Amino acid sequence: MSLLDVKNLNLGFNLSQGFKQVLYDVSFSLDKGKMLAIVGESGCGKTLTAMSILNLLPKNAEIKEGNIFFKEYNLLEKKEFQLQKIRGKNIALIPQDPMTSLNPLYTIENQIVEIIKTHRPNEKKIKEIALKSLKDVKIPNPEERLKSYPHELSGGMKQRIIIAMALACNADLIIADEPTTALDVTVQAQIMKLLKEIKETKNTAIILITHDLGLVFENADYVAVMYAGRIVEYSSKKELFENPKHPYTKALFNSIPDIIGEKLIPIEGQPPSINDSILGCPFNPRCKYVMDICTQKNPELLKNNESMVSCWLNS
Ligand SMILES: Nc1ncnc2c1ncn2[C@@H]1O[C@H](COP(=O)(O)OP(=O)(O)O)[C@@H](O)[C@H]1O
Ligand SMILES: [Mg+2]
Repeated sequence: MSLLDVKNLNLGFNLSQGFKQVLYDVSFSLDKGKMLAIVGESGCGKTLTAMSILNLLPKNAEIKEGNIFFKEYNLLEKKEFQLQKIRGKNIALIPQDPMTSLNPLYTIENQIVEIIKTHRPNEKKIKEIALKSLKDVKIPNPEERLKSYPHELSGGMKQRIIIAMALACNADLIIADEPTTALDVTVQAQIMKLLKEIKETKNTAIILITHDLGLVFENADYVAVMYAGRIVEYSSKKELFENPKHPYTKALFNSIPDIIGEKLIPIEGQPPSINDSILGCPFNPRCKYVMDICTQKNPELLKNNESMVSCWLNS
């Protein structure tokens, strides 16, 4: 059994014009000590997938079908008070903007101590754990930093504090939703190095949500490529980079500027919005390999060698 098993997640929004589905049969699993990257253009459903695991969804969102198994729990059957215990302790979220997780009114020490008290109630050496977690994320002068308020720290330091909080609770799974998008490139590299070290030394599972394929290449073990609320390709990182199969994955690769300065080819057109209803494969209006069948029926996600691919070219 994997640490995390997301099975056939179907989610949508109850809007004034009725129910609009945005996630379709999203399934993946993740083992301890591995990193899964979820990639895809903005609006393809990456954050909603992650937030479903934490059950931190917008009020009008509804999961119509699916299961999320985490350790021995079926998360979608848990009550809010049970989920509160799991969140933070077992599953930690590193958001794009660290200030959404830090309280500007309290010192770092207060906040780390509070989270340890909540999630490890029998713990006596709270201060020591707080200090060790700051050391683990390589924060200089950790004693002093404990007394700081969030506004006294840089963006990169704040992100380290959030990671320290996940470590202080011994989280088994860290969900990092575009954790470095707001940071400059050098700090970004340091934060990713830290996440990779945590994965390797503490056997933590990590879901990395990003649109940066460079980060995926350097850090991930597995990759799920999402398009219009569906996983269209799912494979090991090695296989994805050596042998991308879905036309959308290939288009994503072609749209990154490479080091030798080869011309990048942007993907023409836009992903469908919540109000567009496209018959067949949702990528068909932008796909240069489009065939008749693609405009009639959506292909299933099927095994293709080492990968799972949803494309009529592979069926
Ligand atoms: N609160 C909301 N109400 C209605 N639709 C939403 C809401 N939040 C997200 N969506 C829809 O869900 C889609 C996926 O959103 P999201 O998971 O945030 O995408 P990503 O993280 O990949 O950029 C969006 O394109 C949008 O149409
Ligand atoms: Mg997002």
